[in-house]
Amino acid sequence: MSSSKIDLVLFGARGDLSRRKLFPALYQLDKADLLSDDTRIAAVARQELETVDFVEQMGETLKTNLGKDWDDKIWSRFKKRIEYIRIEFSEKEQFNALREWSDDSRTLIFYMATPPSMFGIICKHLDEANCIDSKSRIVLEKPIGHDLKSSKEVNDTVGEFFSESSIYRIDHYLGKETVQNLLALRFANRLIHSQWDNSCIDHIQITAAETVGIEGRWTYYDGVGQLRDMVQNHLLQLLSMVAMEPPNKVEADEIRAEKVKLLRAMTPINQDNVADQAVRGQYSAGSISGDPVVGYMEEEGAAEDSSNTETFVALKVFVDNWRWAGVPFYLRTGKRMKEKVTQIVITYKENPHAIFSEDDSEANNRLVIRLQPNEGIQLEMLSKKQCMKERSSLEKRTLNLDFLDPNEDGRIVDAYERLLLEVLNGDQWLFVSRDEVEASWQWCDDLLQAWDDKKVGTKSYSAGSWGPAKSESLIEKDGRSWYLV
Ligand code: BG6
Repeated sequence: MSSSKIDLVLFGARGDLSRRKLFPALYQLDKADLLSDDTRIAAVARQELETVDFVEQMGETLKTNLGKDWDDKIWSRFKKRIEYIRIEFSEKEQFNALREWSDDSRTLIFYMATPPSMFGIICKHLDEANCIDSKSRIVLEKPIGHDLKSSKEVNDTVGEFFSESSIYRIDHYLGKETVQNLLALRFANRLIHSQWDNSCIDHIQITAAETVGIEGRWTYYDGVGQLRDMVQNHLLQLLSMVAMEPPNKVEADEIRAEKVKLLRAMTPINQDNVADQAVRGQYSAGSISGDPVVGYMEEEGAAEDSSNTETFVALKVFVDNWRWAGVPFYLRTGKRMKEKVTQIVITYKENPHAIFSEDDSEANNRLVIRLQPNEGIQLEMLSKKQCMKERSSLEKRTLNLDFLDPNEDGRIVDAYERLLLEVLNGDQWLFVSRDEVEASWQWCDDLLQAWDDKKVGTKSYSAGSWGPAKSESLIEKDGRSWYLV
């Protein structure tokens, strides 16, 4: 951890991420006294604007977004940290303004809330303006590339200016409270840890369903699809947190090394097994919560002809190691699904012998780890029904682990608050290493190649459903079904 004073430089300060996530998170850190009194923020963007105007506009946005969390006193303190600096990223000379603002005795953190195509040119111009030194850190937003090859190029480019220990690659799922609690659940509880392998677990499901569509970014999304947008990063990160071996310590190098091992142990989906283990879907018109919504090809900005881009993916994945041999991991994620829900469900094996009645053999224990909504962990157990007429019939009861009480302000901390705090602390434990990014891309590239080689098209599903029928058969043919609480 660094002891020098810290300043933050936010590239893309007028963008959506800055308005919706970064400035609200920094404000909340200030409110919670987690931001040093002398930390300054350079808000960098291309538009001609005075600091006073930027601050006023940001203040209005935050006031609306923060609702009851807004406090005039905190804002008056917070806004004094901000200086708006106009830089056209392609203009080398304009970076001198940042050089003048910066102070060599302090650590500069560069946050790239910009399209990845800008990372290289910004780093180069920062370097030429002498803004980078050995204390500097850089924060990168996804996507890191489009495939393995391009991700290496991005990593190489940024790596020319920053060492791996000063690069913070964001996967905002790692900032979610439940994901960090997953580590505590697995490794602080002997009871859970000792039952965490193929001798006890039947299978694991990870669902990340969204009700939103592609939110006005059709052209961008059509070149990406749900595998790259959600699986390569968020779902594979969840999978690696669920399945990795215990790290020696809760420290960045140890955790990241275990995650890489896990990602490299995933069996590839290729031409031979793609038909059996992967489903890709695309939404057609339907309704969500009673409101009609258009199909993917009728969205604003959609191309005239057809598109084979998937808005839904369901996968059956195996991890080729001692702990998980034979245990399927079923993953699914999609846009325009029935409900917004992100959860991990661990289903335990049946008892070897049912001594009560047939009902107890049907109700496997389940551990449900829910990221959103209503963050929490539930363990489904069987218990005796309180009933004099029946001698020993069973019912399903749920133990709720209520560790996710809202913090003292009565709200759940946003992922970006946690992640920004860790960057300020110089701790990489919740950030993705280069090796992880590349191992995930390698696995996704194999699947994309198999879809290409086999000319696999998308299956249609109605908006507001749980995905194409083939997603149900992917799991049902194994005698299991998708589980929702
Ligand atoms: C982003 C994806 O990384 O995650 C979006 O690019 C997606 O398409 C979003 O909607 C989902 O995040 P969350 O936190 O709402 O589950």
